[in-house]
Amino acid sequence: MSSQGRMSKIIAAALLTGGVSAGVLMLVTQLRAQTPPPAAEPAPPAAAPAPAAAPGTIPTADVPYYAEWVTSPHAKRNAEEFNHWNKEGAIPVECARCHSTPGFLDWLGADGSTAGKVDKPAPIGTVITCMACHNDKARMLTSVTFPSGLTVENQGADARCMACHQGVESTNSVNNAIANLGDDAVTPKLEFINVHYRAAGAMLFGTMAKVGYEYSGKKYAARFEHRAPYRTCNACHVTHTLEVKVQDCAACHKEVTDKASLQNIRADKVDRDGNGNIDEGVAIEIKHLEDKLMAAIMDYAKTVVGKPIVYTPEVYPYFFNDLNGDGKVDKDEAKFPNRYKSWTPRLLKAAYNYQFVFKDPGAFAHNPAYATQLLLDSLADLGVKVKVDIAKAVRP
Ligand code: HEC
Ligand code: HEC
Ligand code: HEC
Ligand code: HEC
Ligand code: HEC
Repeated sequence: MSSQGRMSKIIAAALLTGGVSAGVLMLVTQLRAQTPPPAAEPAPPAAAPAPAAAPGTIPTADVPYYAEWVTSPHAKRNAEEFNHWNKEGAIPVECARCHSTPGFLDWLGADGSTAGKVDKPAPIGTVITCMACHNDKARMLTSVTFPSGLTVENQGADARCMACHQGVESTNSVNNAIANLGDDAVTPKLEFINVHYRAAGAMLFGTMAKVGYEYSGKKYAARFEHRAPYRTCNACHVTHTLEVKVQDCAACHKEVTDKASLQNIRADKVDRDGNGNIDEGVAIEIKHLEDKLMAAIMDYAKTVVGKPIVYTPEVYPYFFNDLNGDGKVDKDEAKFPNRYKSWTPRLLKAAYNYQFVFKDPGAFAHNPAYATQLLLDSLADLGVKVKVDIAKAVRP
């Protein structure tokens, strides 16, 4: 192993054990083994104890990429993503792979267990540490299997990212849930199917992953082939901070001046939302289609099902009964027992795609064509029953 590989392994082991305190890494066991015994110097005066550098520790400033990583969402100890299971006291096997370092190591087989599955619940209280991505199993991981069962090979370092950023549902799982049901049959046993959040890898690969709900008989975009090298997770995002390389984008996309203006990126002339404006950002076009789709979902629920629906991105499972029919999510409505339970297959497919695109704020950059196709096809399908305004919209 290269000395750098070895170093990051040591560092990662220290971070994994949670030994990060007051800007100092505890490398007790590893460094003791390497450091020669202290020379027999006279002890310093008892009044001046060394401040941070206790024996067997190194300052975090000396750890490559520590400063970047520690500011990133992967290191955010108080995030809901790392605290959701605190009451239960352990992270269940279905969740541990993506929400903890021990769970990811278990899934990789880096803890000596079978690779490709999580064998046991993971302890709470970890984030995504160095060790999650820097171990021999993670380094060798180059293929990604999506929730649809489809696999892509030779993804290099991106395979690590996509092992987690891939969603948990797919066209298949939606089709299984609605098998043999009529398109507009209200079916109380149906629950909302939540693809999960920020499934960037699945969006990037489009129909090669089939994590969006793909309507039968339609063709869908494959991997988004942006001009090289900006076509991988680690080319567009800074690996350890996770931020988008805004300055790089600005070199070619003149409309980019800061992070917010990424939304204005526009290269093609495809009028996706059919509003006649082909200069607005591709993100804005997608936003307009999301708005149209939400309006159609609400119209269908009210007029076809007879049970008005409302959506809030904040509260699981996101779709609720609009009890007072005011078209807004009220506090007493956004509660689990009031979750929407009058799904028809047609409504479920559209809601599934809405959530997939809406919960990937980078969809416009991950795969603008796929995102547009899913939204437009959902609109067209609801359009069999309710009025939708997509006559001028262009499907890429
Ligand atoms: C395949 C990987 C994967 C699996 C499995 C997974 N998650 Fe997640 N989860 C993610 C990712 C990625 C995010 C989004 C992180 C972000 O906000 O950028 C997320 C976000 C969340 C959030 C925060 C959502 C929000 O927006 O408030 C919760 C809560 C959550 N997951 C719960 C669960 C639960 C419960 C399970 C198990 C039943 C689970 N997850 C399984 C990858 C996964
Ligand atoms: C989410 C995954 C992930 C996490 C967490 C992570 N890294 Fe990395 N790191 C990568 C990837 C991907 C690369 C680039 C490909 C490679 O070298 O494996 C990389 C590269 C590196 C390199 C080599 C860079 C070079 O110049 O060659 C070092 C050193 C490193 N990381 C240290 C760390 C340390 C220390 C931490 C924790 C403080 C950390 N990483 C956390 C994914 C991660
Ligand atoms: C072990 C699972 C796992 C791996 C591997 C992983 N992520 Fe994440 N990622 C998460 C979780 C969980 C969060 C949410 C953390 C939070 O909200 O603080 C997240 C957050 C993010 C965010 C910020 C999203 C937001 O809501 O602001 C980005 C960007 C991101 N990851 C990109 C990457 C990239 C790029 C890689 C590969 C180098 C990667 N991730 C590898 C699980 C993972
Ligand atoms: C063409 C460049 C590009 C590629 C390739 C790319 N991303 Fe992104 N990503 C972006 C942009 C742009 C955003 C939106 C950032 C914003 O608007 O703040 C984004 C957003 C995200 C987010 C949500 C961040 C947030 O603030 O909520 C995650 C997570 C993410 N990307 C992960 C990934 C992963 C994982 C990969 C590889 C499978 C990937 N990205 C590939 C450009 C890219
Ligand atoms: C070397 C020049 C170059 C750089 C750097 C670059 N792009 Fe691009 N980008 C292009 C070109 C050219 C196109 C249109 C044709 C194509 O897809 O190759 C494009 C298309 C796009 C599109 C689709 C726009 C549309 O209207 O369909 C998005 C979104 C995008 N780029 C985002 C990004 C982001 C985010 C970054 C920075 C991480 C970035 N690009 C960096 C050249 C670049």
